[in-house]
Amino acid sequence: MRILITGGAGFIGSALVRHTLLNTDHHVLNLDKLTYAGNLESLSPVEHLPRYKFLQADIADSTAVSLALAEFQPDAIMHLAAESHVDRSIDGPAAFIQTNIVGTYALLEATRAYWMALPEERKQSFRFHHISTDEVYGDLHGVDDLFTETTPYAPSSPYSASKAASDHLVRAWHRTYGLPVLLTNCSNNYGPYHFPEKLIPLVILNALEGKPLPVYGDGSQVRDWLFVEDHARALLKVVTEGQVGETYNIGGHNEQKNIDVVRAICGLLEELAPNKPSGLARYEDLITFVKDRPGHDQRYAIDASKIEHELGWTPEETFASGLRKTVQWYLDNLEWCRHVQDGSYQRERLGASA
Ligand SMILES: NC(=O)c1ccc[n+]([C@@H]2O[C@H](COP(=O)([O-])OP(=O)(O)OC[C@H]3O[C@@H](n4cnc5c(N)ncnc54)[C@H](O)[C@@H]3O)[C@@H](O)[C@H]2O)c1
Repeated sequence: MRILITGGAGFIGSALVRHTLLNTDHHVLNLDKLTYAGNLESLSPVEHLPRYKFLQADIADSTAVSLALAEFQPDAIMHLAAESHVDRSIDGPAAFIQTNIVGTYALLEATRAYWMALPEERKQSFRFHHISTDEVYGDLHGVDDLFTETTPYAPSSPYSASKAASDHLVRAWHRTYGLPVLLTNCSNNYGPYHFPEKLIPLVILNALEGKPLPVYGDGSQVRDWLFVEDHARALLKVVTEGQVGETYNIGGHNEQKNIDVVRAICGLLEELAPNKPSGLARYEDLITFVKDRPGHDQRYAIDASKIEHELGWTPEETFASGLRKTVQWYLDNLEWCRHVQDGSYQRERLGASA
């Protein structure tokens, strides 16, 4: 297959690009604007492969996208490009409206024009796979409740509202124009190459430097964590075997309170990085509770039984095994982290696009 992946320089997108190129014969065009979240260094394991191409472009730039479609001739588009950080969406929602809603609309229209002109057989097999989040479903209050594919949308943040809007657009393009779409809504991902502003890498890197480990509110919020490489496997399964027009929830069966995640990281660091910053008795002593995020959802949890039963996907990692791999990866790749933290990954990107 020839797969155009949008947002392939981001956290999940780069995992998907690496997984696809290292485990299949598919060709990949990675179309990414390279915002602050895009990092070409995350693609170093595959960038030399002739089956891999990179194009710096904005999904909202219809001319650039149409040209890329005409030249690359994809059999499928996997759409991950997005503004994705909830705190940033609270501070500045405009970029979220522009990329997640307007950008997805522009991408859908460029795709529709391309798809309409395909020969019948390729038109039938073409797929547009939209990658979304469980945050569109809002908050769960009952301890046993789970998000299913039919849970009504009730997004809480500008981020989740913009993703919900993009999901509606994708479904409408299927119902109205017949575009062969698939949707997936996934829980919180974690793993290697995660941008250091997100909870798990932030805690690892702050702990190593003896800095406070910030925990929102009392840390009782529950998230369902999925190892990013399990997500990448699920996405490839859906794009190749999923039923057109269907939605699949993807989750890890790993519900954890934020405070327990932070404590688990501290425990792993005691074992894997025992030489602590001077004067520090235990990494846990760095935990600092900070004012809660406005509109903070209490609990997310996914019912992933549909993708398990219909497509035979289950996660390979438990939270314990995935977190250990993640902590070890950050310890082994501090240079990748340093390039993000000192901004040099962006200077390299300017070189790459010149
Ligand atoms: N991170 C999670 O836990 C999680 C969970 C479920 C779903 N998702 C969804 O998965 C997708 C990827 O998430 P992520 O965590 O990898 O995000 P990310 O922020 O790490 O990466 C986003 C990528 O999109 C690119 N991008 C942003 N705006 C663009 C534009 N206008 N045109 C082209 N490229 C653009 C960025 O440069 C970056 O490479 C998103 O759609 C997100 O909503 C994320």
